[in-house]
Amino acid sequence: MRNDDDRGAPTPVADRRRALQLLLSGSAVGVAALVGWPVARYVQPAPEDEAASAVELPDDEIGLWDAKLIALRGRPVLVVNTGDGYEAISAVCTHLGCIVKWKKGRRQFFCPCHGGRFDVEGRVLGGPAPRPLARLEVEELPGRIVVRLA
Ligand code: FES
Repeated sequence: MRNDDDRGAPTPVADRRRALQLLLSGSAVGVAALVGWPVARYVQPAPEDEAASAVELPDDEIGLWDAKLIALRGRPVLVVNTGDGYEAISAVCTHLGCIVKWKKGRRQFFCPCHGGRFDVEGRVLGGPAPRPLARLEVEELPGRIVVRLA
């Protein structure tokens, strides 16, 4: 037990008060971080690859009739090597927005949600999709290809 005559020395009550203040200020910092981090992530610009309106790929990166998934402005795009060139097709199904997959063996895009099927140029072959998949611009340059939003 401390004596009140000890001027300048903290009393047990002052120690508890100081500890409580430290605890509360630490909690306030923690709450600010929990709230502030998602807000900061939301307002900051998208990383460059998510915001890109063009993507460049080496021309030997995609095998014959294989597909590579890329993102343009955060939207999925499948790039297929047809042997005669490349097709870049939006992977967002025109029915209800599911992400289509490339079936190399059938040379078709297939939507796993309701069975929509599309040819390599995005035309509807079957299923409930009302419109073709969107085609994007592909520029073939020496040693590389560039896919752009049309
Ligand atoms: S969302 Fe693709 S067929 Fe329904």
